[in-house]
Amino acid sequence: MKGIILAGGSGTRLQPITLVISKQLLPVYDKPMIYYPLSVLMLAGITDIEIIATPEDLPRFRTLLGDGSSLGLCLSYAEQAKPRGLADAFLVSERHIGDDSVALVLGDNIFHGHGFIDILQTNSRDVDGCILFGYPVHDPQRYGVADIDADGNVVDLVEKPERPRSNLAVTGLYFYHNDVVALAKDLQPSVRGELEITDINRSFLAQNRARLVSLGRGFVWLDTGTHEALIEAGQYVEIMERRQGVRIACIEEIAFRMGYIDQESCHRLGRRLAKSPYGQYIMNVAAADRMPAFVPTNY
Ligand code: G1P
Repeated sequence: MKGIILAGGSGTRLQPITLVISKQLLPVYDKPMIYYPLSVLMLAGITDIEIIATPEDLPRFRTLLGDGSSLGLCLSYAEQAKPRGLADAFLVSERHIGDDSVALVLGDNIFHGHGFIDILQTNSRDVDGCILFGYPVHDPQRYGVADIDADGNVVDLVEKPERPRSNLAVTGLYFYHNDVVALAKDLQPSVRGELEITDINRSFLAQNRARLVSLGRGFVWLDTGTHEALIEAGQYVEIMERRQGVRIACIEEIAFRMGYIDQESCHRLGRRLAKSPYGQYIMNVAAADRMPAFVPTNY
Protein backbone atom coordinates (compact mmCIF):
# COMPACT_ATOMS: atom_id res chain seq x y z
CA MET A 1 0.00 0.00 0.00
CA LYS A 2 1.22 3.52 -0.85
CA GLY A 3 0.79 6.52 1.41
CA ILE A 4 -0.03 10.15 0.76
CA ILE A 5 0.16 13.03 3.20
CA LEU A 6 -1.79 16.04 2.01
CA ALA A 7 -0.07 19.10 3.41
CA GLY A 8 -1.29 21.74 0.97
CA GLY A 9 -3.56 24.69 1.67
CA SER A 10 -2.78 28.15 2.95
CA GLY A 11 -3.83 27.79 6.59
CA THR A 12 -5.85 31.02 6.46
CA ARG A 13 -7.65 30.27 9.71
CA LEU A 14 -4.32 30.27 11.53
CA GLN A 15 -2.97 33.54 10.15
CA PRO A 16 -0.72 35.37 10.89
CA ILE A 17 1.31 32.35 12.05
CA THR A 18 0.85 30.71 8.66
CA LEU A 19 1.84 33.76 6.61
CA VAL A 20 5.35 32.50 5.97
CA ILE A 21 5.23 28.91 7.20
CA SER A 22 3.04 26.00 6.26
CA LYS A 23 0.45 24.97 8.83
CA GLN A 24 1.74 21.39 8.78
CA LEU A 25 5.19 22.58 9.86
CA LEU A 26 3.93 24.41 12.94
CA PRO A 27 4.92 22.87 16.25
CA VAL A 28 2.56 20.64 18.14
CA TYR A 29 4.43 20.73 21.44
CA ASP A 30 7.82 19.17 20.68
CA LYS A 31 7.70 18.34 16.97
CA PRO A 32 6.41 19.61 13.63
CA MET A 33 2.75 18.81 12.97
CA ILE A 34 3.53 16.58 9.97
CA TYR A 35 5.28 14.05 12.24
CA TYR A 36 1.86 13.02 13.57
CA PRO A 37 0.23 11.96 10.27
CA LEU A 38 3.56 10.54 9.09
CA SER A 39 3.68 8.34 12.18
CA VAL A 40 0.17 7.05 11.40
CA LEU A 41 1.27 5.79 7.99
CA MET A 42 4.47 4.32 9.43
CA LEU A 43 2.49 2.43 12.07
CA ALA A 44 0.22 1.08 9.35
CA GLY A 45 3.35 -0.47 7.84
CA ILE A 46 3.48 1.94 4.90
CA THR A 47 6.96 3.05 3.89
CA ASP A 48 6.47 4.47 0.38
CA ILE A 49 4.95 7.88 0.98
CA GLU A 50 4.34 11.02 -1.07
CA ILE A 51 3.97 14.42 0.54
CA ILE A 52 1.83 16.93 -1.33
CA ALA A 53 2.37 20.62 -0.59
CA THR A 54 2.36 24.02 -2.30
CA PRO A 55 5.40 24.91 -4.43
CA GLU A 56 6.48 27.47 -1.80
CA ASP A 57 6.33 25.02 1.11
CA LEU A 58 7.61 21.88 -0.57
CA PRO A 59 11.34 22.71 -0.19
CA ARG A 60 10.91 23.03 3.59
CA PHE A 61 9.26 19.63 3.89
CA ARG A 62 12.08 18.22 1.83
CA THR A 63 14.69 19.84 4.06
CA LEU A 64 12.97 18.43 7.13
CA LEU A 65 12.44 14.85 5.97
CA GLY A 66 14.70 14.35 2.95
CA ASP A 67 14.27 11.19 0.92
CA GLY A 68 13.24 9.33 4.06
CA SER A 69 16.08 6.83 3.84
CA SER A 70 17.41 7.69 7.31
CA LEU A 71 14.05 6.48 8.64
CA GLY A 72 13.95 3.45 6.35
CA LEU A 73 11.28 5.15 4.25
CA CYS A 74 10.97 6.16 0.63
CA LEU A 75 9.60 9.71 0.57
CA SER A 76 8.67 11.63 -2.54
CA TYR A 77 7.23 15.09 -2.98
CA ALA A 78 4.57 16.49 -5.28
CA GLU A 79 3.40 20.04 -5.85
CA GLN A 80 -0.17 21.20 -5.64
CA ALA A 81 -0.17 24.77 -6.89
CA LYS A 82 -3.72 25.52 -5.78
CA PRO A 83 -5.87 23.74 -3.25
CA ARG A 84 -8.44 21.94 -5.42
CA GLY A 85 -10.00 19.74 -2.77
CA LEU A 86 -8.77 16.66 -0.95
CA ALA A 87 -9.62 14.27 -3.78
CA ASP A 88 -7.19 16.12 -6.04
CA ALA A 89 -4.49 14.23 -4.13
CA PHE A 90 -5.22 11.11 -6.20
CA LEU A 91 -4.66 13.01 -9.44
CA VAL A 92 -1.50 14.73 -8.20
CA SER A 93 -0.12 11.41 -6.92
CA GLU A 94 -1.36 9.15 -9.70
CA ARG A 95 2.13 7.98 -10.65
CA HIS A 96 3.13 7.41 -7.06
CA ILE A 97 0.05 5.26 -6.46
CA GLY A 98 0.62 3.17 -9.57
CA ASP A 99 -1.36 -0.07 -9.33
CA ASP A 100 -1.40 -0.14 -5.55
CA SER A 101 -3.98 0.55 -2.88
CA VAL A 102 -3.45 3.85 -1.08
CA ALA A 103 -3.80 5.48 2.31
CA LEU A 104 -4.45 9.20 2.45
CA VAL A 105 -3.90 11.14 5.64
CA LEU A 106 -4.43 14.85 6.10
CA GLY A 107 -1.30 16.64 7.25
CA ASP A 108 -3.05 18.36 10.15
CA ASN A 109 -4.81 15.38 11.73
CA ILE A 110 -3.58 13.95 15.03
CA PHE A 111 -4.57 10.43 16.07
CA HIS A 112 -3.58 8.75 19.29
CA GLY A 113 -4.92 5.76 21.13
CA HIS A 114 -4.17 2.39 22.57
CA GLY A 115 -4.41 -0.39 19.99
CA PHE A 116 -4.29 2.03 17.05
CA ILE A 117 -1.43 0.10 15.49
CA ASP A 118 -3.65 -3.03 15.29
CA ILE A 119 -6.57 -1.07 13.88
CA LEU A 120 -4.27 0.35 11.20
CA GLN A 121 -2.59 -2.89 10.26
CA THR A 122 -5.79 -4.94 10.18
CA ASN A 123 -7.71 -2.47 8.06
CA SER A 124 -4.99 -1.61 5.57
CA ARG A 125 -4.89 -5.22 4.37
CA ASP A 126 -6.82 -6.11 1.19
CA VAL A 127 -8.84 -2.91 0.95
CA ASP A 128 -11.69 -3.51 -1.44
CA GLY A 129 -13.43 -0.10 -1.62
CA CYS A 130 -12.79 2.53 1.01
CA ILE A 131 -12.20 2.31 4.72
CA LEU A 132 -13.17 5.37 6.73
CA PHE A 133 -12.49 6.07 10.38
CA GLY A 134 -15.35 7.59 12.36
CA TYR A 135 -15.03 9.56 15.57
CA PRO A 136 -17.78 11.00 17.76
CA VAL A 137 -17.60 14.79 18.10
CA HIS A 138 -19.81 17.48 19.60
CA ASP A 139 -19.71 19.64 16.46
CA PRO A 140 -20.20 17.24 13.50
CA GLN A 141 -21.36 20.03 11.18
CA ARG A 142 -17.69 21.03 10.80
CA TYR A 143 -16.79 17.68 9.19
CA GLY A 144 -17.79 14.96 6.81
CA VAL A 145 -20.46 13.04 8.71
CA ALA A 146 -21.35 9.36 8.52
CA ASP A 147 -24.81 8.07 9.17
CA ILE A 148 -24.71 4.43 10.25
CA ASP A 149 -27.37 1.82 10.93
CA ALA A 150 -27.71 -0.31 14.05
CA ASP A 151 -25.12 -2.78 12.72
CA GLY A 152 -22.57 -0.04 12.09
CA ASN A 153 -22.98 -0.11 8.31
CA VAL A 154 -22.64 3.24 6.58
CA VAL A 155 -25.94 4.38 5.09
CA ASP A 156 -25.04 7.95 4.18
CA LEU A 157 -22.09 10.33 4.02
CA VAL A 158 -22.57 14.09 3.97
CA GLU A 159 -19.98 16.86 3.87
CA LYS A 160 -20.49 19.52 6.54
CA PRO A 161 -24.24 19.05 6.93
CA GLU A 162 -26.21 21.89 8.54
CA ARG A 163 -28.30 19.36 10.41
CA PRO A 164 -26.09 16.32 10.98
CA ARG A 165 -27.96 13.03 11.35
CA SER A 166 -25.24 11.61 13.59
CA ASN A 167 -22.33 12.80 15.71
CA LEU A 168 -19.87 10.60 13.81
CA ALA A 169 -17.25 12.70 12.03
CA VAL A 170 -15.25 11.11 9.23
CA THR A 171 -11.63 11.69 10.18
CA GLY A 172 -8.84 12.64 7.80
CA LEU A 173 -7.49 9.12 7.34
CA TYR A 174 -8.72 7.04 4.41
CA PHE A 175 -7.73 3.67 2.94
CA TYR A 176 -8.63 3.02 -0.71
CA HIS A 177 -8.60 0.41 -3.39
CA ASN A 178 -6.71 1.52 -6.51
CA ASP A 179 -10.07 2.33 -8.16
CA VAL A 180 -9.95 5.64 -6.30
CA VAL A 181 -7.77 7.11 -9.04
CA ALA A 182 -10.34 6.43 -11.77
CA LEU A 183 -13.11 7.75 -9.54
CA ALA A 184 -11.15 10.94 -8.88
CA LYS A 185 -10.70 11.46 -12.62
CA ASP A 186 -14.46 11.31 -13.18
CA LEU A 187 -15.32 13.51 -10.23
CA GLN A 188 -17.16 16.79 -10.79
CA PRO A 189 -16.12 19.75 -8.61
CA SER A 190 -18.61 20.64 -5.87
CA VAL A 191 -20.35 24.01 -5.55
CA ARG A 192 -17.23 25.14 -3.64
CA GLY A 193 -15.29 24.33 -6.82
CA GLU A 194 -13.44 21.50 -5.07
CA LEU A 195 -12.96 17.80 -5.63
CA GLU A 196 -14.56 16.60 -2.42
CA ILE A 197 -13.30 13.49 -0.69
CA THR A 198 -16.83 12.88 0.56
CA ASP A 199 -18.03 12.56 -3.06
CA ILE A 200 -15.40 9.87 -3.66
CA ASN A 201 -16.51 8.07 -0.54
CA ARG A 202 -20.15 8.36 -1.62
CA SER A 203 -19.25 6.71 -4.94
CA PHE A 204 -17.80 3.75 -3.05
CA LEU A 205 -20.85 3.73 -0.81
CA ALA A 206 -23.13 3.59 -3.87
CA GLN A 207 -21.19 0.50 -4.94
CA ASN A 208 -21.59 -0.97 -1.45
CA ARG A 209 -17.84 -0.76 -0.97
CA ALA A 210 -17.55 1.75 1.90
CA ARG A 211 -16.79 0.59 5.41
CA LEU A 212 -16.44 2.66 8.54
CA VAL A 213 -14.24 1.74 11.47
CA SER A 214 -15.37 3.48 14.65
CA LEU A 215 -12.64 4.92 16.82
CA GLY A 216 -14.08 4.65 20.31
CA ARG A 217 -14.64 7.26 22.99
CA GLY A 218 -11.30 6.48 24.65
CA PHE A 219 -9.48 7.36 21.47
CA VAL A 220 -8.05 10.77 20.63
CA TRP A 221 -8.51 12.53 17.31
CA LEU A 222 -7.46 16.15 17.44
CA ASP A 223 -8.04 19.06 15.21
CA THR A 224 -5.46 21.78 14.68
CA GLY A 225 -7.57 24.12 12.59
CA THR A 226 -7.91 27.04 15.01
CA HIS A 227 -5.56 28.78 17.40
CA GLU A 228 -7.35 27.20 20.36
CA ALA A 229 -7.34 23.72 18.84
CA LEU A 230 -3.65 24.01 18.00
CA ILE A 231 -2.60 24.91 21.53
CA GLU A 232 -4.90 22.26 23.00
CA ALA A 233 -3.31 19.62 20.78
CA GLY A 234 0.10 20.72 22.05
CA GLN A 235 -1.11 20.55 25.65
CA TYR A 236 -2.50 17.06 25.16
CA VAL A 237 0.81 15.82 23.78
CA GLU A 238 2.74 17.48 26.60
CA ILE A 239 0.53 15.98 29.31
CA MET A 240 0.68 12.47 27.86
CA GLU A 241 4.40 12.54 27.19
CA ARG A 242 5.28 13.88 30.63
CA ARG A 243 3.02 11.44 32.45
CA GLN A 244 4.22 8.31 30.66
CA GLY A 245 7.76 9.33 29.82
CA VAL A 246 7.27 8.22 26.23
CA ARG A 247 6.85 10.39 23.17
CA ILE A 248 3.89 10.47 20.82
CA ALA A 249 4.64 10.37 17.08
CA CYS A 250 8.40 10.19 17.52
CA ILE A 251 9.12 9.07 13.96
CA GLU A 252 12.65 7.93 14.81
CA GLU A 253 11.39 5.65 17.60
CA ILE A 254 8.63 4.30 15.36
CA ALA A 255 11.13 3.60 12.56
CA PHE A 256 13.23 1.63 15.07
CA ARG A 257 10.36 -0.24 16.72
CA MET A 258 8.80 -1.09 13.35
CA GLY A 259 12.13 -2.51 12.20
CA TYR A 260 12.65 0.08 9.45
CA ILE A 261 16.04 1.03 10.93
CA ASP A 262 18.51 -0.65 13.25
CA GLN A 263 19.66 0.40 16.69
CA GLU A 264 22.76 2.15 15.42
CA SER A 265 20.85 4.25 12.89
CA CYS A 266 18.33 5.17 15.55
CA HIS A 267 21.11 6.29 17.85
CA ARG A 268 22.63 8.36 15.06
CA LEU A 269 19.30 10.13 14.48
CA GLY A 270 19.12 10.96 18.17
CA ARG A 271 22.69 12.23 18.34
CA ARG A 272 21.91 14.76 15.60
CA LEU A 273 19.40 16.36 17.98
CA ALA A 274 21.30 15.59 21.17
CA LYS A 275 20.95 19.06 22.65
CA SER A 276 17.18 18.68 22.85
CA PRO A 277 15.23 16.37 25.17
CA TYR A 278 13.67 14.92 22.00
CA GLY A 279 17.10 13.87 20.72
CA GLN A 280 18.05 12.50 24.14
CA TYR A 281 14.87 10.45 24.13
CA ILE A 282 15.73 8.88 20.77
CA MET A 283 19.20 8.00 22.03
CA ASN A 284 17.68 6.39 25.12
CA VAL A 285 15.29 4.38 22.94
CA ALA A 286 18.26 3.15 20.90
CA ALA A 287 20.43 2.49 23.93
CA ALA A 288 17.94 0.28 25.74
CA ASP A 289 19.45 -3.14 25.24
CA ARG A 290 16.12 -4.68 26.04
CA MET A 291 12.59 -3.38 25.92
CA PRO A 292 11.25 -1.89 29.16
CA ALA A 293 8.76 -4.18 30.91
CA PHE A 294 5.88 -2.27 29.41
CA VAL A 295 6.13 -0.38 26.15
CA PRO A 296 2.92 1.49 25.46
CA THR A 297 1.92 0.54 21.94
CA ASN A 298 0.29 3.85 21.22
CA TYR A 299 3.10 5.74 19.58
C1 G1P B 1 -11.93 17.65 5.46
C2 G1P B 1 -12.98 16.75 4.84
C3 G1P B 1 -13.99 16.30 5.90
C4 G1P B 1 -13.26 15.65 7.06
C5 G1P B 1 -12.15 16.57 7.59
C6 G1P B 1 -11.29 15.83 8.60
O1 G1P B 1 -12.51 18.85 5.85
O2 G1P B 1 -13.62 17.45 3.79
O3 G1P B 1 -14.91 15.41 5.33
O4 G1P B 1 -14.19 15.33 8.07
O5 G1P B 1 -11.29 17.01 6.55
O6 G1P B 1 -10.28 16.64 9.13
P1 G1P B 1 -11.64 20.21 5.95
O7 G1P B 1 -10.81 20.08 7.18
O8 G1P B 1 -10.83 20.27 4.71
O9 G1P B 1 -12.64 21.31 6.06
